[in-house]
Amino acid sequence: MDESIQHDASRPRVFIETYGCQMNVADSELIGGVLRGAGYAAAAHPEDADVILLNTCAIREHAEERVLRRLADLARFKHARPELRLGLLGCMAQHNRAALAEKAPWLDLVAGPDSYRRLPELLGRVRFDPEQQAAKQQVARIDVRLDRAETYADIAPSHEGAVRAYVTAMRGCDRFCAFCVVPYVRGRERSVPPEAILADVRGLAARGVREIVLLGQTVNAYRFGNTDFGGLLHLVAKVDGVERIRFTSPHPSDMSDSVIEAMATEPKVQPSLHLPVQSGSDRVLAAMERGYTVDEYVRLVERMRAAIPGIALSTDIIVGFHGEEDADFRATLELMAALRYDSAFSFKYSLRENTRAYKLGDTVSDEEKGRRLVEVIALQERVSAERNRALAGERFAVLVEGPARRGGGMLAGKTPQFKTAVFAAADSIRPGDTVTVRVDSATAHTLHCTLI
Ligand code: 5AD
Ligand code: SF4
Repeated sequence: MDESIQHDASRPRVFIETYGCQMNVADSELIGGVLRGAGYAAAAHPEDADVILLNTCAIREHAEERVLRRLADLARFKHARPELRLGLLGCMAQHNRAALAEKAPWLDLVAGPDSYRRLPELLGRVRFDPEQQAAKQQVARIDVRLDRAETYADIAPSHEGAVRAYVTAMRGCDRFCAFCVVPYVRGRERSVPPEAILADVRGLAARGVREIVLLGQTVNAYRFGNTDFGGLLHLVAKVDGVERIRFTSPHPSDMSDSVIEAMATEPKVQPSLHLPVQSGSDRVLAAMERGYTVDEYVRLVERMRAAIPGIALSTDIIVGFHGEEDADFRATLELMAALRYDSAFSFKYSLRENTRAYKLGDTVSDEEKGRRLVEVIALQERVSAERNRALAGERFAVLVEGPARRGGGMLAGKTPQFKTAVFAAADSIRPGDTVTVRVDSATAHTLHCTLI
């Protein structure tokens, strides 16, 4: 009998490495579900795996470079164990399909975000067709067809989180911001039927998961039949056992009254919101084709803060977009100082092939982007620390996740505002419990608390 078939019969083991955003974390769980259904087992380490799959990100050049370096490592791995199958999945597969065949000819498989259903078949092909392998027919092992209808609604993901789980509510993006590759690599916007989301959430709640994070590239644009995103939040809130609901990332222009109403009235929907602004300059926002002005964004923040008292806000900032002058950058700093976000993720603009801004090129040098980034980070660190320190003496309900990263007998969890709270462990406390703590002191990233 062919040795590879014999091996296959004893459950080949697959190791999935995930890069990038939470959508990719959720997609890796989906891929796990697809492969488990096809008889694969999970490998604990890459060394134990028959198949290694990298689920990749294409949002910035830096993300792609990391994966390319990892691929070079894995090439050596494969050299030592030629029977190992290597696959590259996700956004980078979609974005770089042509270049990858050249840069990484040792890859057995390249599959985009809408091809995961066909992974068993694709892996079967690379495993069972020695002739094809020998001929290195690249077309057969590349599957990057985008599919407007694929939501994987019928596939049960292999969820890994114990306390918090990510559930995909919608896939793709129709916004086409000028800098962003997502609409090209993840395709058109489509929502998962509410029944499929609820079935997943019920299963998670039954397994002891306490917090559900609904995901989508513009998650608040969710719509399936008559159910909009506000409606979906109400439906998920009805599931017994779910204690906390969050979602990411919303687009400011899709923040409808219905969503704000659901956030304000459903106690399970937590008071934290990641609301990417990208820039504080109207000129740059227009060039980015974000679809809102600074003034509209500020008014939205005011409405959210009025409707949901104590809400924590975070954002994304891009520095050095095409045409960003010093005055535009100053406007971003001013907006951040005025809105006083709880936290912010900031990035140097990275030119992405295929995007609308690609042909415009870069006008800001990498050094200048670096200087701007340092300023944005310094400002936000100061504001985050000030905001957190102002919480000293306040009490919060913390959903316990497990030991704190620094150890030392400390436990960590999140407040409703999604701030990390650290406190001394007590024997009776388990992950998934909700406890009350009082804030003693704080840094920009952590609340140091006492259990009460
Ligand atoms: N360069 C830098 N940052 C980007 N983002 C998206 N595309 C780019 C790019 N080309 C950032 C945006 C987005 C976050 C997920 O990544 O801020 O909100
Ligand atoms: Fe990219 Fe804009 Fe879509 Fe967000 S809304 S994924 S930034 S195109």
